[in-house]
Amino acid sequence: MQEFDWKNEVNQKEEKRKLAERMAKRVRNGEVIGFGSGSTSYMAVEEIAKRVKKEKLSIKAIPTSKIIEDLCKELGIETTTLDKEKPDWCFDGADEVDKHNWLIKGMGAALYKEKLNMKQSRENYILVDHTKFVEKLGEKHPVPIEVEKEKVEQVKEEVKKLGATKVELKQSNVETKPLVTDNDNYLLYAWFDSIESNLEESLNQIEGVIENGLFIGYDIILIK
Ligand code: A5P
Repeated sequence: MQEFDWKNEVNQKEEKRKLAERMAKRVRNGEVIGFGSGSTSYMAVEEIAKRVKKEKLSIKAIPTSKIIEDLCKELGIETTTLDKEKPDWCFDGADEVDKHNWLIKGMGAALYKEKLNMKQSRENYILVDHTKFVEKLGEKHPVPIEVEKEKVEQVKEEVKKLGATKVELKQSNVETKPLVTDNDNYLLYAWFDSIESNLEESLNQIEGVIENGLFIGYDIILIK
């Protein structure tokens, strides 16, 4: 059974669909495009697929999760990987965005590849409905942290030392066991009262951390 149902369990559906339609207009023939994850990205893939089919466009996607990779296959969009090709541009969703365009992402557990794509691309679009805007980063969501399975307990302690008020191992949405990411790691959810500009880097320096869902200081274009 699938952890996330980005096709059916969608809030702000109409608003997200409009964002997806706008994103699809950016696609040009021959491009390599980084495809994000989450329900907004899922809709963007559907809209892009409509154009690909209708206009017989030839594009390649670099998907950031298994679900989006499967969707590409289902809709006839060719896929590639970052070790073979670089994206001309990328799109993705976000969980929170503040006034500096700092983001929390990764509530769909795909943050590792999402960040890899964003770092490799000079044009990054982030699709956000009105519920994503916050005064203070972390006010609605924890920071997701992808962690090696064996290192969970020691990482938890180190994350608390960086100021987290609560750190939990994310449980599966469909089974009574921890959620396992596409990369076969676990996910911690860490709540912070305040998020400083160096926290993204500090979290990644902890032994056992693969990546975290803070995106601080990236050059992004918001589609809202
Ligand atoms: C996936 O891991 C996330 O980064 C998503 O982009 C984020 O959770 C936003 O999801 P929705 O588009 O479903 O709101």
